[in-house]
Parts: sequence; C-alpha cells; structure tokens
Amino acid sequence: MNVLIIGSGAREHAIAFEILKNQKVESIYISPGNAGTSMLEKTENVILNEMDDILNFAKNKNIDMTIVGNEALLVDGIVDLFKKHNLNIFGPDKASSMLEGSKAYSKLFMKKYGIKTAAYESFDNIDKAKEYIASQSYPLVVKASGLALGKGVIICQNEREATTAIDEIMGQKVFGDAGNEIVIEEFLEGFEASILSITDSNIIVPFISAKDHKKIGDNDTGPNTGGMGSIAPNPHMTDDINNLFIHDILKPTLMGIKKEGLEFCGFIFFGIMITKKGVYLLEYNMRLGDPETQVVLPMMETDFLSLITDTINGNLAKIEITWKKGYVLCVVASSIGYPDKYEKGLIINNLDKIEARVYMAGVDKKNDDLVTSGGRVLSVVDFGTSLADARKKVYDSINHLDKNVLYYRKDIGDI
Ligand code: AMP
Ligand code: GLY
Repeated sequence: MNVLIIGSGAREHAIAFEILKNQKVESIYISPGNAGTSMLEKTENVILNEMDDILNFAKNKNIDMTIVGNEALLVDGIVDLFKKHNLNIFGPDKASSMLEGSKAYSKLFMKKYGIKTAAYESFDNIDKAKEYIASQSYPLVVKASGLALGKGVIICQNEREATTAIDEIMGQKVFGDAGNEIVIEEFLEGFEASILSITDSNIIVPFISAKDHKKIGDNDTGPNTGGMGSIAPNPHMTDDINNLFIHDILKPTLMGIKKEGLEFCGFIFFGIMITKKGVYLLEYNMRLGDPETQVVLPMMETDFLSLITDTINGNLAKIEITWKKGYVLCVVASSIGYPDKYEKGLIINNLDKIEARVYMAGVDKKNDDLVTSGGRVLSVVDFGTSLADARKKVYDSINHLDKNVLYYRKDIGDI
C-alpha cells in the first residue's frame, strides 16, 4: 500500500510510525512532514500546498489511502474532492466536519439530539451578545465559533472581561472570520478527558481515554497551548464515567449523525468535562488530537492501518480493538517563549541520549544538525506498567535536553 499523510506535527509522525508496522506498506508520503518523518524508513516528505496538488499527487503515486491530520483541509472539503475522484481518504466530508468547524452548528446539533453540554446561546450580532452577558452569572465562557487553532476560547470572570472578549473576537477579529459568530456558554468545573474514536457513521467505537495538559505552566497555569503533554488512559475515566459518556454523549451523537444524514469514515474526538453533575461534551474535533494521538496509538494492539482500511471497507462493526495494559505518557518540549514569541533555528542536542520514543514536530534539518523550527518541538513518549513508571521513563529521557533551548512541564501525569 502507498499511504499519504497530511500534516507536520508529532501527531503525524506518530501516525506514520504506527502505519509502518503494517507489512503491506510500500511507501508513506507526508506533506509537509518534518525532520522526524524524513528519517523514517519507506517514508518521504513532500510539499503539496493546494488541495488540487494533493489530489494530483495521490493519483500519480497510486496512493491507496490518504489520512488527514488536521482540521483545516477537512473543513475546506478535501474528502469531498477525493471521493469525487474515487480515491480513498479517511476523514469527514465538508458537511460532517462542520461539527468541528462551527461551534454554533455543533452546539445546535448537541441541543437537537439531547447530547449533554453546557447551556449556551450563539450570536452573530455584537450588541445582542453584550446585552446577553449583562444578565449572566460568572465565570462565563466566550468562544469564537470558527476554527481558531484551539485558542478561540476565553474564560471570563466578570462582565468587563466578557465585554473585552466579545470586542476582541467579534470587533477586532483577532481570530479572523472564526469570530463572525460566537458561542457564549455556562462555565463547567471538573476534570477534562479526550475520547478519540473511529466511526463509519453506523457505529462509533471509542478508543482508550486520554488526558491532554493544555496550559503552558506546571499545575495548569498560564495560557493555553496546542498541548504540553498527555497520558492514556485518563485516570478520571472510571467505568461509571464511561457509561455516562456512552449514554449521554456517544449514543445521541451517533443518532444525530444518522438523522442528519452525515456519512463518512473518520475519527471523532470528544472533548469532555467530568463534573459533579455528570459528563458534558465541550466539543467535537473531527480528527485525531495532538498530543493525544502520541499516547493513544502506542496503547493500541490492533493494527492501525488495517483498522482504517477495514473501516472504509464497511467492517468496523466486526473488529474488536484491543489495548495494552499499562500507561503511555507524553511530554512535549517546546521552544522557550511559546505560546508567545520564540526564537527558531536553535540546535537540538542530546537526542541520542534519549531512550524513550521521540516524535518530532517543529524540527528542521540544517547541515548535520537538527534545529528548532516551531513552537512545539518534540514529543517524548514512553510506556510503563503504571503511570508512575511511564512518567519516570519519560522524565529520565527528557532531562537530557538542553534547558536553554527547550522548555517542558515537570508535572505531566502527576494526577
Ligand atoms: P474547546 O475548544 O471548546 O474544547 O475549548 C478549549 C478549552 O477551553 C477546553 O478544553 C476547556 O479547557 C475550556 N473550556 C471550553 N468550554 C468550557 C466550559 N464550558 N467550561 C469550562 N471550560 C471550558
Ligand atoms: N489536543 C487537542 C486537539 O488536538 O485539538
């Protein structure tokens, strides 16, 4: 098989790594990939900028399966384009990807199908939004409806902060057109979990649970990032919580997908909040998460590429996905200064001293050196029989990195 993966992060490096375990794989192409993916066997980085370039490449190279890592191309309709040309691609079509691409739409979907979620209103008028917040209790959550790279959510402690958030999102358009519409919702307090799953629109099969550590600083302080670490399984996901998730979120979601006539084979990522009042759905992402993928895929015993091809061939219901016993933990090393301004082009030393697995993201090759080229630079990942075991292995490895070049949280998996 020839496989094409679209993306450049540690998530895509992890996907390629898993797919290579399948003996049927002849070659993997990754657009644009990174220094890590360029070092994998049978794997080549390619630069395909436009959707048409990707389509033509897939035709010319006889690509048997295309997997899209991130959301932007899905929302732009890459799946619809590939399907029109009878090419296999794994992911939601344009209509289905609106469950991630528009929070106003996804909240409406949740309301319509009785999916447990925070109470909310959506607005496309700035004055009406401001009128609404005057009568609300705080904290209150203001969200840009469109795609904002995970940064479009502002938790407001009082009306003044909510007014500023509305002005920034709808007035100054700090997230561009993503802020044409906003969702204002009830603040939920609890533990978050990420449930990745796979679907063919007839059944949704959840993967092992995961936890993302989104804030830049230890003890969940400072601004949100793309994710600074993750663990799987999520210790908060007990059997009772899982039953609530299935009953209050997964099942009605599947019903909604069927009733709305959404049809696709792909991943659904449920971002949930476990509260004293039950399990709430915060959001859908219609793709795998980063850094959740880096911990969930190494826990999977089932062959990942076969799972994808079997799903496309209509056999998902017949597969039993099996999981390792134990834990996988991932710590992300980022450029110093991220998520604000940071320097690029700094040499990354001591990777040879790291025993854990390393998935790369913002890394370039320069002569014989590996240098930083982005905010999140590396994911360091290891398996342990217990969470503490996995944690020790990852930190023993990541401690070798140069602290003048890379930053990482010290409390990942410290639950
Ligand atoms: P979202 O993109 O909607 O998942 O939001 C990003 C992050 O903001 C979530 O992972 C939560 O940490 C936080 N968040 C979103 N909605 C709420 C809410 N209603 N209550 C509390 N925190 C929230
Ligand atoms: N880890 C959250 C995301 O991938 O959006």
